[in-house]
Amino acid sequence: MDRVAVIGLGYAGLPFAVALAHRGFKVVGVDTDEEKVELINKGVSPVYEPALNDYLKGVLERGLFKATTSVAKAIEESDVVFVFVGTPTKADGSLDLTQLENASEDIGRALKDEGGYKLIVVRSTVLPGTTEGVVKRIIEERSGKICGRDFGLCMNPEFLREGKALYDIFNPARIVIGEYDKRSGDILESVYRRFHGEKMPPVIRTSIVNAELIKYAANAFLAMKVSFINLIARIAQRLPRGDVIEVASGIGLDPRIGRDFLDAGLGFGGSCLPKDLRALIKLAKSLGVDAKLLEAILEVNETQIDEALELLRRALGDLRGKRIAVLGLAFKPGTDDVRESQSIKLVKRLAKEGAVLHAHDPLALDAAKRVLQGIGNVAFFSDVYECARRCDAIVVATDWGDYRNLCFERLGETMARRVVIDCRHIIDAVKASKAGFKYYGLGIYT
Ligand code: UGA
Repeated sequence: MDRVAVIGLGYAGLPFAVALAHRGFKVVGVDTDEEKVELINKGVSPVYEPALNDYLKGVLERGLFKATTSVAKAIEESDVVFVFVGTPTKADGSLDLTQLENASEDIGRALKDEGGYKLIVVRSTVLPGTTEGVVKRIIEERSGKICGRDFGLCMNPEFLREGKALYDIFNPARIVIGEYDKRSGDILESVYRRFHGEKMPPVIRTSIVNAELIKYAANAFLAMKVSFINLIARIAQRLPRGDVIEVASGIGLDPRIGRDFLDAGLGFGGSCLPKDLRALIKLAKSLGVDAKLLEAILEVNETQIDEALELLRRALGDLRGKRIAVLGLAFKPGTDDVRESQSIKLVKRLAKEGAVLHAHDPLALDAAKRVLQGIGNVAFFSDVYECARRCDAIVVATDWGDYRNLCFERLGETMARRVVIDCRHIIDAVKASKAGFKYYGLGIYT
C-alpha cells in the first residue's frame, strides 16, 4: 500500500502529496489545471507554503512524485487514492460539490476497468452525509463495483493550517479516520503508521459521519475562541487599565481553556473558518437545531471591523479624506491568501468612509490588488516606509512578523500625524510612544 494518488493539488493536497513522497511513498498527484501540473513537474509550487518548493524538488529528483491531469493513470498506478478537491461555497451559502462529483465520476470510471481493491479516502471538507451520499454513490454507479467489497472508503479530515501545512502534516495532533468498514480503516491506519513511524499521533477510528462532523466542529470551536476573545477585547478596551492580552493569559493557563486561538484582533478570515461555520449553521438549521450560538460567532466576527474603525475615529475624528496606511492584507501572516481577509474588509470599509488608503503586505499584494480592483482611492506599496509616507495613521491589520521591528523614528519623519492602531498586538507600544506616536491597541484601554 505504498503507491498513492492524490487528487487535487491545492493548498492542502500538494503539501500532503509531497510529504508522502518525502517519506518514501510512490505518489502520483492529479489536478485538472494543466498549467499547474506543468509547473509542479518543473519543481515550482503554484501555492505558497514555506519550504514546499525544496521538498517538491527533492521528491521529483528521487523519482517518487509526479503530477498528471489523468485520474485514470493515477489510479492505475496506486492502491490508495486521497481526494483533496475544493468544496467552495455557492452564492446561496451551500457547498459547491462540482469538483467532488467530477472527481468521483473519474474515480468510478477508472475503477471500472481495474481488477484490484483500492481504498478511496475523502480529505476534502464535506458536510455529514456527503462521503456516502455523493462519493460512494457516484463511484458505485460509474464503476458497477460495490463499496466494502471491491473498493474501500474512508473520510479522513485534514486539520492543516495554511503556511504551516508541512509542519502539521508531519506533526498532527491527531488522525481522524472515518471508516466505511474495518478493512478500509485498517489500510488507512497502516499508511499513517508507515508515514509517522515511532512518532505516530493518536488515532480516532470512527464512523464516516462523525469524521465529517469532527472537521466542522473543530473549525467552529476555533472560530468560537477567536470571537469569544474579541468580545472580551471590546469589554477590556472600555475598562480603565483593561488589557485583553493579560486576560487571555489569565484564562489561557487553565488547561480546560488553553491559550491557543485567544489572540484578539480584527477577527478570523481565510478559506475555511468562515465558510465552514456558515455551512454548519445551515446544516444545524436544516436539522431543526437552533444555531444561535454559531450565528453569534459570525456576528462578532463581522462587527469586529467596527472596533478598528472606532479606534481610528477616536484618533483622527471624521475619516473622510484622512490618509491611512493599512499594514497586512493577507488573512493571516505567512500566506499570500486574501480570501475572506478581515484586513481587506477593513480597507473596503475605510474606502467607503472616504478615507485615502495606502496598503502594504509582504506577500499578498498581487492577490489584494485583484480583490480590491475598482475600490476607490487605494494605493499599493511594497515598502512599509513608503506606504506610511504622508499618512495620518498606521493600522496594523495582519500580524506579520515583519511589522514587529518597524523603526518608528523613521516612520514618524514622513507621516502627517503619528498615530498607530495595533489590531494584532505586535507593536512595541513603548517604542512607538518614545518616537512620539499615539498608540491604540485593540482590546487595550487607551
Ligand atoms: C484553519 C484551521 O486552523 C485548521 O486546523 C484547518 O485545517 C483549516 O482551517 C482548514 O479547515 O483547512 P487556516 O484557515 O489556515 O486553518 O488558518 P488559522 O491559522 O486557523 O487562522 C484562521 C484565522 O483566525 C486567521 O484570520 C487568523 O488571523 C485568525 N486568528 C487565529 C485570530 O484572529 N486569533 C487567533 O488566536 C487565532
